[in-house]
Amino acid sequence: MAILSNLNSLVTDLQKKSYLAYAFTRSALYMGQFESLYRVSKAFSPLVEVPTPYRDKAVEEFLMADVKSLYEEDAKLFIEKISPWVLLKPESLPTHFFRFSKILASGVKMSKIRKEKTHKKFKPSIDLSKYPDYFKRTFHFQVDGYLSTDSAELYNHQVEIIFNGTADAMRRMVIPVIHDATMGNSQKKILEIACGTGRATEMVAKSFTKNHLTATDLSHAYLVKAREKLNLDNVDFMQAAAEELPFKDETYDIVYSVFLFHEIPEEVREKAVAEMKRVLKPGGTLIILDSIQVDDEPRYHEALRRFPIDYHEPFYKSYTQWPLEKALADHGFQSVESKRGFFSKIAWGKK
Ligand SMILES: C[S@@+](CC[C@H](N)C(=O)[O-])C[C@H]1O[C@@H](n2cnc3c(N)ncnc32)[C@H](O)[C@@H]1O
Repeated sequence: MAILSNLNSLVTDLQKKSYLAYAFTRSALYMGQFESLYRVSKAFSPLVEVPTPYRDKAVEEFLMADVKSLYEEDAKLFIEKISPWVLLKPESLPTHFFRFSKILASGVKMSKIRKEKTHKKFKPSIDLSKYPDYFKRTFHFQVDGYLSTDSAELYNHQVEIIFNGTADAMRRMVIPVIHDATMGNSQKKILEIACGTGRATEMVAKSFTKNHLTATDLSHAYLVKAREKLNLDNVDFMQAAAEELPFKDETYDIVYSVFLFHEIPEEVREKAVAEMKRVLKPGGTLIILDSIQVDDEPRYHEALRRFPIDYHEPFYKSYTQWPLEKALADHGFQSVESKRGFFSKIAWGKK
């Protein structure tokens, strides 16, 4: 018996070490791309500043430990078999670096956009007619914003560059909360709001293969990409605005969103929470994962201040001043909890 338990802990330890080696190597790959992207962008616009907060020694030490604890939490999902290891399968290097070359080119175009302040100007082939004003803008290194398939192709990769390879692990913070909310019941219906190109969708769908997941987003182009990548029996996609969901009251057991709320103005945020609540069944769980907010971690204050400037995120600052926990409580959610993981925070509550 003792031998078996020793063997088990040896395997767990090996799995954890392998995961950490994988995750930090992946981070190093994206950190290198971060430096190159910034240097190339700066060469084309004096307005671009290579972000400095992480150059502070104390913050850097804290940050390394913080990322490690994010990764250790993430490792548990695989070790405890909540999520399948296949989610960590890397793409081929030629595909990766070919896309990175496109991201560099987009960095150069973005420098021009910054210089000329043309964040709301799109090429004529893009149909803007069906989208609200707040949605029609470029951001990060996405010259077409959420509005083209070219942009959709670059999106996940450039988000990982910005977060030095931690974005996927931060997204996966929704999984333990969904795990607790489903309690192994395959009848529980899940709704994702703002699925983008389907990164979190894939993680959730492959972790809860017996549950049905409806994934929605406002962007037609991003949904096209998500559908193209994910052809899973337990997922369907639908174009929908978070503030006007096309579902009947009390349809879903779990409703979640990842990285949506910092992208929308406050009045839309309020409507979105109300809509997410409306479509939840009584006792259902609402989960919102997004950036950390003011006072969540003082050592990241400078990064919080720079983020909307570096990445053209006009609603980010007001989002950071809109505490998620209070928003959920104000909308009548019970047992509200939250947890920070590196630069993200997840908050959840029961209807
Ligand atoms: C930062 S991305 C996050 C995407 C995805 N959840 C992820 O983890 O990569 C924000 C997403 O919100 C979508 N979005 C923005 N405003 C929206 C709205 N009002 N309703 C639904 N989706 C919206 C965008 O199209 C985009 O896909």
